[in-house]
Amino acid sequence: MTGRLITFEGGDGAGKSTQIARLAGWLGEHGIQAVCTREPGGTTEAEAIRELLVSGESDWDPLTEAMLHYAARREHAEKRIRPALAAGTWVLSDRFFDSTVAYQCYGQGVAPDDEAILRRLAIGALRPDLTLLLDIPVETGRDRARERRKSRYEEMSDELHLRVRAGFLEIARGEPERVAVIDAGRDPDSVAAAVRAIVAERLGLS
Ligand code: TMP
Repeated sequence: MTGRLITFEGGDGAGKSTQIARLAGWLGEHGIQAVCTREPGGTTEAEAIRELLVSGESDWDPLTEAMLHYAARREHAEKRIRPALAAGTWVLSDRFFDSTVAYQCYGQGVAPDDEAILRRLAIGALRPDLTLLLDIPVETGRDRARERRKSRYEEMSDELHLRVRAGFLEIARGEPERVAVIDAGRDPDSVAAAVRAIVAERLGLS
């Protein structure tokens, strides 16, 4: 049996990492082994690319930026995601290709056709079995980020973050069978319960 790929998406400060850890724990109680990983990153090489994109101060051309995300994503897919799925392990990824569509296409103006070419080249037909979109208002995400050092993306304008949020919701509207929207403005326990309910329903756990 191959594993399942579940991706978590959403704006900065939506609480994805907390929810991924909680879901992995719950899956473990059901005897399902899951690895938690993230993008950009998840392998040594992809984490090196992450440094350039997330911590760096460079001003990339948007298509270059999308290509760097796909370079990282290919490393992650080839070396980590596909082997885990083939071994029957579930993979919970903090972000995947919907982030490129939301941030680089909706946010930074990369053409969707160009994203589709990069996606096909980098990862072929690899697609999440389920995507959980943790949706929060841009201001809530910004308030949550106030306590820590901001990433290069978090320093970007509110206008960009509003386009990113709208982009994620548009993706979910277009692919409701894959992408479930969860109101992540609530307390973490309520969000975790909503995540579990959707995973149980869509992926057949009880
Ligand atoms: P995060 O790991 O804290 O979510 O930070 C990663 C940042 O990278 C986040 O602000 C969104 C951005 N990003 C993109 O712009 N495009 C992508 O394809 C991915 C995976 C992330």
